[in-house]
Parts: sequence; C-alpha cells; structure tokens
Amino acid sequence: MISHVSKRRRAAILGLALATSACGALVAEAQNAPAPAPAPAAAPAPAAGGANAARQAADVRKSIFKLIGANFRPLGAILKDGGPYDAAEVNKRITRVLFLSGLLNEAFPENSNIGEPDTKAKPEVWTKHAEFQKSLKDFQDHLVALSDINEKDKGLTDSFKTALGAVAQDCKSCHDEFKLK
Ligand code: HEC
Repeated sequence: MISHVSKRRRAAILGLALATSACGALVAEAQNAPAPAPAPAAAPAPAAGGANAARQAADVRKSIFKLIGANFRPLGAILKDGGPYDAAEVNKRITRVLFLSGLLNEAFPENSNIGEPDTKAKPEVWTKHAEFQKSLKDFQDHLVALSDINEKDKGLTDSFKTALGAVAQDCKSCHDEFKLK
C-alpha cells in the first residue's frame, strides 16, 4: 500500500501557507515603508549574526542538498537506465525529496551569501531572487506532479518518465543558473 500524500499535506510539507502569510505581511510592510534603498551589488552582503552564523546557514543548505542528491539518485538511475522500478520505493524517494525541497524555502537567508569556499551558491540567488524563487517553485510543483503520476500509474509509463525528466531538468537548470561548478 502506497501512502497517499494529500494536497493539503503537501502544502504543509512545502510550507506554502506560511509563505503566503509571510508574503502578505511583507506586502503590508512594503506599502507603509518609505522607498527601499537600492539593492546592493553582487558583492557578498555583510553577514548578519556573524561569519559563524553565515557558515552555519550555508552548512544547513548543503546538508539539505546532500540529502536531496542521495534520495534522488535511484530516481535518476531509473531515468538513465530504465530501472529498476518499484512503485513503493519510488514513492518513498519522491516524498522525501518533496519534503526536503520545502526546507529550501528558508535555506538561503541573505547572510549566507558568503561565496566560496563555504558555499557554491552564486550571488545571483540573491540578486535575481524572483527568478531563483520561480526555479525553486517549479521544482516543487514538478515533484508534486511526479508524485501524483506515480500514485496513479504505479509503473514505468511514458507520463511517469516525462514527469521524472522534468524534475531532473529542474536540478540541472537551477544548477546552471545559480550554482558554481
Ligand atoms: C532552485 C535551485 C536548485 C534546484 C531546483 C536544485 N538545486 Fe541542487 N543546488 C543548488 C544550489 C544553489 C547549490 C549550492 C548550495 C551551496 O553550496 O550553498 C546546490 C547544491 C547541490 C548539491 C551539492 C551539495 C554539497 O554541498 O555537497 C547537490 C548534490 C545537489 N545540489 C543536488 C540536487 C539535485 C539532485 C536536485 C534535483 C533533484 C537539485 N539539486 C535541485 C540549487 C538547486
């Protein structure tokens, strides 16, 4: 029996309700606040909370990506070699990566824009923040779609492979744009 992740549960996993209300608060604040100062250039921002806090934030982020990488690996192998496929195992992996992707919403605080060697996140994560957020949201949406298709098809169907391919492409696109080699 494959555990079913309901829509509401997924929203909770991804912290969507929280993100929405936080956005509302930000909009309200922006409406009352005087015009914001121009955004700083690509240079790393001074680390609020100190270099130590900045390094810790980058460490947390890298740990999340390590877990995403380890859990996505068997899915990547299915895409590459066409197997082995096991519906329950695949469901487990997708559910984990989906949960971990939600943690990324809070994994890029301003103070963790500190450059190498502590992080391979490019300054563009912060300077092109809307684009980065879209890249992250596409990734999460495609994971939800993949989860749905896996629950429905329970097999290595063409639609499953297409949905899995879309997620793999999200890893690559975001890395090309926002991650140092
Ligand atoms: C929205 C952008 C984005 C998406 C989507 C994304 N990544 Fe990443 N990934 C990054 C960034 C940025 C870093 C660099 C993090 C750092 O060094 O602070 C990274 C780092 C990594 C790392 C290196 C972690 C380490 O330091 O050892 C791995 C592994 C990884 N990603 C795997 C994946 C896989 C697999 C997927 C897809 C299933 C994926 N990522 C999707 C942006 C993304």
